[in-house]
Amino acid sequence: MTQQRKNMKDKTKQKKSYSIAVIGGDGTGPEVAAEGVKVLRAAARKFGFSIRVKQFDFGGERYLATGKIIDDSEIAALKKYDSIYLGAIGHPDVKPGVLEKGLLLRLRFALDQYINLRPVKLYPGVETPLKDKGPEEIDYVVVRENSGGAYTGCGGIVMEGTPNEVATQEMIYTRHQVERCLRYAFELVRKRHSKKSPWKGLSEEDIKAGKIGQLTLCGKTNVLTYVFGLWERAFYEIAEEYPDVKTDYCHVDATTMWMVKNPEWFDVIVTENLFGDIITDLGAMTQGGMGVAAGGNINPEGLSMFEPIGGSAPKYTGLNVINPMAAIASVSMMLDTLGETNAADSIEKAIMAVTPQMKSQAAGRMGFSTTEVGNMVVDEIKKQK
Ligand code: IPM
Ligand code: MN
Repeated sequence: MTQQRKNMKDKTKQKKSYSIAVIGGDGTGPEVAAEGVKVLRAAARKFGFSIRVKQFDFGGERYLATGKIIDDSEIAALKKYDSIYLGAIGHPDVKPGVLEKGLLLRLRFALDQYINLRPVKLYPGVETPLKDKGPEEIDYVVVRENSGGAYTGCGGIVMEGTPNEVATQEMIYTRHQVERCLRYAFELVRKRHSKKSPWKGLSEEDIKAGKIGQLTLCGKTNVLTYVFGLWERAFYEIAEEYPDVKTDYCHVDATTMWMVKNPEWFDVIVTENLFGDIITDLGAMTQGGMGVAAGGNINPEGLSMFEPIGGSAPKYTGLNVINPMAAIASVSMMLDTLGETNAADSIEKAIMAVTPQMKSQAAGRMGFSTTEVGNMVVDEIKKQK
């Protein structure tokens, strides 16, 4: 090919571009989101794609000023973006539940983000409250079903305020919801491991039997017999299609026990919505706290939303002391979901180079400011070969 033709060809090869809707939200949300965007831009420069960012002001301040949280047309507008990036939701002057339900849960449901992906990974140099456990032992992923269960909102109250008051809140699941979540989890095991590099928790017999990783169903089949009857049947039926995935079952109460005592027993855990909510806060503490725990609300066929799983930490607002690592790790998850896997890996490597330099992952005790931590991650990305 002549140089001229080669140049022409390069010109027609369009640079990939992603448009990202950023909802900074409340409290320290905008500060951590700003660091995430900074890192996102650095990764884009390094890996040759471009990023367009549009900021949205949904959250407590706007609600207090206008009474509006988010409406259908605003949700429709978000659908034009490739991804949503969320800082945090929760305002001290707004009654608890209003913004959480009106914005966070509303988006998860309206966009059918049926997977909540929450890695529990201890980064190097990060302190864990688990005795004798390190990055080797704490490295698994929780797939939290994100569209059903008790979050469906089915139930009610009758005879309110009387001694006979009755309240119900139903845990609802359809076969369709359970199945799509389980399939995602089985596929994730395959994505994490291969024949060449199987999960290190497997026994020799497992390897001989062709297993590459493990999926644990976390349930409560001994009490919630209807809902987990459905989950369990679907789990073992679908498992037949994944002979390379070792299946494992754990009641939710036992799961919390092993998450503390033997976290190395887990590879991928799949569970229903409320159980997933609860166990991932426990998981977050074992990986160094809310400052490090990232999450993705994923619609594998549609628009996903990435967020640090911690709250808005209002008392630290504007002080430049909040830890942006969870928000930065969420950007890595976002890029992975968008198919920019090299950029995603690069961010994670950069995080792992910075965490050992930090004094702590707690707000105000990092040894660096919020913006400094963001800059350090950017510098590490630039330095990588
Ligand atoms: C989470 C949060 C939310 C949930 C709240 C804020 C609605 O706890 O993302 O884990 O329960 O899902
Ligand atoms: Mn939660």
